Amino acid sequence: MALPALGPDLWSLLGLFLFQMLLLLPPPASGSGGQGLVPRVRYCAGDGRRALSLFHQKGLRDFDTLLLSGDGDTLYVGARETILALNIQDPGVPRLQSMIPWPANDGKKDECAFKRKSNETQCFNFIRVLVPFNATHLYACGTFAFSPACTFIELRDSSLVPILEDKIMDGKGQSPFDPAHKHTAVLVDGMLYSGTMNNFLGSEPILIRTLGSQPVLKTDTFLRWLQPDASFVAAIPSTQVVYFFFEETAIEYDFFEKLHTSRVARVCKNDVGGEKLLQKKWTTFLKAQLLCAQPGQLPFNVIRHAVLLPADPRDVARIYAVFTSQWQIGRTRSSAVCAFSLTDIERVFEGKYKELNKETSRWTTYRGPETNPRPGNCLVGPSSDKALTFMKDHFLMDEQVVGTPLLVKSGVEYTRIAVETARDLDGHSHLVMYLGTTTGFLHKAVVSKNSSAHLVEEIQLVPDPEPVRNLQLAPNQGAVFAGFSGGVWRVPRANCSVYESCVDCVLARDPHCVWDPESRTCRLLSAPILNSWKQDMERGNPRWACANGPIGRSHQPQSLPQIIKVVLAAPNSILELRCPHLSALASYCWSHGEAAAIPESSTVYNGSLLLLLQDGVWGLYQCWATENDFSYPVVSYWVGNKDQPLALDPKLEGIPQERVEAPLTRVGGGAALAAQRSYWPHFLTVTVLLALVLSGALILLLASPLGALRARGKVQGCGSLVPGEKAPLSREQPLKPSKEHRTPATDLDADNNHMGTEVA
Ligand SMILES: *[C@@H]1O[C@H](CO)[C@@H](O)[C@H](O)[C@H]1NC(C)=O
Ligand SMILES: *[C@@H]1O[C@H](CO)[C@@H](O)[C@H](O)[C@H]1NC(C)=O
Ligand SMILES: *[C@@H]1O[C@H](CO)[C@@H](O)[C@H](O)[C@H]1NC(C)=O
Ligand SMILES: *[C@@H]1O[C@H](CO)[C@@H](O)[C@H](O)[C@H]1NC(C)=O
Repeated sequence: MALPALGPDLWSLLGLFLFQMLLLLPPPASGSGGQGLVPRVRYCAGDGRRALSLFHQKGLRDFDTLLLSGDGDTLYVGARETILALNIQDPGVPRLQSMIPWPANDGKKDECAFKRKSNETQCFNFIRVLVPFNATHLYACGTFAFSPACTFIELRDSSLVPILEDKIMDGKGQSPFDPAHKHTAVLVDGMLYSGTMNNFLGSEPILIRTLGSQPVLKTDTFLRWLQPDASFVAAIPSTQVVYFFFEETAIEYDFFEKLHTSRVARVCKNDVGGEKLLQKKWTTFLKAQLLCAQPGQLPFNVIRHAVLLPADPRDVARIYAVFTSQWQIGRTRSSAVCAFSLTDIERVFEGKYKELNKETSRWTTYRGPETNPRPGNCLVGPSSDKALTFMKDHFLMDEQVVGTPLLVKSGVEYTRIAVETARDLDGHSHLVMYLGTTTGFLHKAVVSKNSSAHLVEEIQLVPDPEPVRNLQLAPNQGAVFAGFSGGVWRVPRANCSVYESCVDCVLARDPHCVWDPESRTCRLLSAPILNSWKQDMERGNPRWACANGPIGRSHQPQSLPQIIKVVLAAPNSILELRCPHLSALASYCWSHGEAAAIPESSTVYNGSLLLLLQDGVWGLYQCWATENDFSYPVVSYWVGNKDQPLALDPKLEGIPQERVEAPLTRVGGGAALAAQRSYWPHFLTVTVLLALVLSGALILLLASPLGALRARGKVQGCGSLVPGEKAPLSREQPLKPSKEHRTPATDLDADNNHMGTEVA
């Protein structure tokens, strides 16, 4: 081998030189730039910290429709050509209770294939509607190979009774023809209100009421109440009316490109249609624009889904909707969640109308005489011909319903939303939103009283990107169910045990999780609530929440490490000290001994401290995390000289120690080393360093001046920490180890287990 022939000294010199060059490098970009909100913790698919259960079965696909039974113990699922009843009472994988096939018949499939639809992907019965009809029956509709069909499904002891061929009815207007088309349906007082495409081509949207005793009512196609591309995403009943949420081309603006707009439409439940005019048509159809925008920004104009959170007694009911934008910056779209109060929606429908000026073809505010009773009101009895004539072309409201943006996230497109409220330890209620993305992720977001949202976590449900088709909360089970092409996932609301310390538990600001000082665990908040439990939803500040015992009895925080990782190394090596990053919201930095700065001959790369072991660098190194204005040591190393062991700082005596091996590269002369090992690792190190230096130099040349870079590099020493925040933790600490430290784990994360006690 030629390499050893170069001799150790050349390699060391080269290594040293490159290492010095590395000190000039800017830190690698942190991934959070320009993303807006960042999930605090991310779990990749299959991460054991967020163990999820998947129901799937060979031959079953497209778990599109989810329905929770009245008692909350059964999840009905509409999959392709099949309807399932899953028992979800027990934790873990949902248990198949019963399953009935509902395929489109061969005749329909042949016809579908004949009409040039794919017999591989489209000519099936995709279940689109699944609603509880009465105590003994569900009502279901499907695309039925581009020939929509509906049927009642009998339940016997929560099991599904097979569907008889002669019980299948026409489902036009209730289910779309094309599985790719949007649709929505809700059953109210025995009547099905649905919004979808009413023809094979998908050019005729309809909003229709079927079933029950009242007459069947539809939107009028000729009057253009809906634009031909209207795409329905939600139907939500209220006291007197049913609201529909959809997106369509805007007609009321002049715009050089096709402009999408989001809308809410409403119809009265007691509408019976007109007698002469508007026979079998809605006489109360009105629609208004929904606006979800941040001030000064392009609006999020495409609605994707909406849900109602019923009013709690002290508040008004609100609708929460996810939006994306038709415009995108760069390659990714962004999403927003907006809240609309029902009172605002009602007010807009009580306000002025727009009308089309036939001469100018522009939509303007209607300023004609007010008719009394007001057309479109949910009055009992038939309306006058005059009112109906008015309704024919005054269906668009003048004002917009303006939503409150609760959350804006770039780089993701949300497809579905589910919401619930959660009470924190102090009894305050917080809005919790579960958001499914087009790429198979689930975000858990919490909105506090002051309307600012934070993302508690991001869970990757499926390894390959595909949209979340549906989300269904199961409050009794404390879980969210997510429907996919390949199955249904059960996602428990939270796994509080991933927060291994009080600090992490409190910083997570998850209303479902509290710190229990007795068991030293972060646990699900559940009754009965104990006084000793800790949480700080409002500020997320561990300083008070994690103080040991009641403040006053012991207000000396112990911020000493609970465990010291001892690394013994030979001089002139390069040592890599790692720092686990628990939170994407924290900034991390390194300190040396009492000093906030790290030695000149070291650098931080990718969170790790790279330390060239020379005189004067031995001693204590701590990686500090600063989050929410609070700093705490994540990991503490004692770096000692293998050849001349340095006595441990007396202040650190008594703290449990653990010998660890940190990745090490020896660059200094040592015949012993040369004899023992090949130079391959050196070669690798030098090559890696060279690559880093070269890429760094390139950036350097292309981008900013050297001074600025050095300044940025320094940020990763603790020099820039807010002194008032860190000082109380690093100075004048009682050097007493906690009695209750846990057995150290052997990996590098071990110190995390003790963060609670470090600060507590
Ligand atoms: C919760 O997290 C802990 C700690 O990471 C892990 O051991 C456990 O398996 C997780 N449980 C679930 C249900 O995800
Ligand atoms: C679809 O049609 C083709 C040709 O008619 C046939 O070969 C294929 O088996 C069909 N696929 C299915 C899933 O029926
Ligand atoms: C529920 O509806 C079905 C279908 O219309 C009907 O056959 C059945 O008798 C109803 N059951 C009850 C309890 O009303
Ligand atoms: C940065 O560190 C993480 C974990 O410590 C590692 O997985 C990742 O590969 C590192 N990235 C680079 C560019 O070294």
